[in-house]
Amino acid sequence: KRVAILISGRGSNMTALIEAAKAPDFPAEIVGVLSNKADAKGLETAAASGIATAVRSHRDYASREAFDAELDAVLRGWEADFVALAGFMRLLTPEFTEKWLGRMINIHPALLPSFKGLHTHEQALAAGVPLHGCTVHFVTPGMDEGPAIAQAAVPVLPGDTPDDLAARVLVAEHAIYPRALAALAEGRIALEDGKVVHKGAA
Ligand code: GRF
Repeated sequence: KRVAILISGRGSNMTALIEAAKAPDFPAEIVGVLSNKADAKGLETAAASGIATAVRSHRDYASREAFDAELDAVLRGWEADFVALAGFMRLLTPEFTEKWLGRMINIHPALLPSFKGLHTHEQALAAGVPLHGCTVHFVTPGMDEGPAIAQAAVPVLPGDTPDDLAARVLVAEHAIYPRALAALAEGRIALEDGKVVHKGAA
């Protein structure tokens, strides 16, 4: 299966997917990385691994629809079967999410449905929860609302700063995202009627 990754910045989750996909038994190949920011660090990392990269700035398009149509064209050019969002900081139109429904996943740095949106580590500290974590989910039109494929929890420790927590969660992100992508690419999980279904071992 062919997977494209959308990023906006550092790309550490992208790197985790690229590294995992180098294993000969990984069921997917990363065929392209697109960023909406030309200075995204992740672009260099992807290029260094010999992966095709593309930059499309949302500022160059008159509407969200026009930007998303261009994204779709790039993804089709790469013949992508699946899309993995990895720190991609643009909201996608319902048209685009419908087109990729069941074939597009995202990683969110919180245990959804808690703490959607931005600043999730600050949100978790403000709420005083003892457990925090990350979620890989199918992308649906509602932001951070698609059904969860995988989650990992980490403890919130006394004295944690948002950065401490972010670093602890990030380790968990890098562990679960490649596994979730592999499950999707292998058809072990699928989105059916708005729910994640697990298929029996082939
Ligand atoms: C990660 O915490 C991811 O969960 C969130 O944005 C951050 C991106 O980091 N959506 P990176 O670009 O993958 O390093």
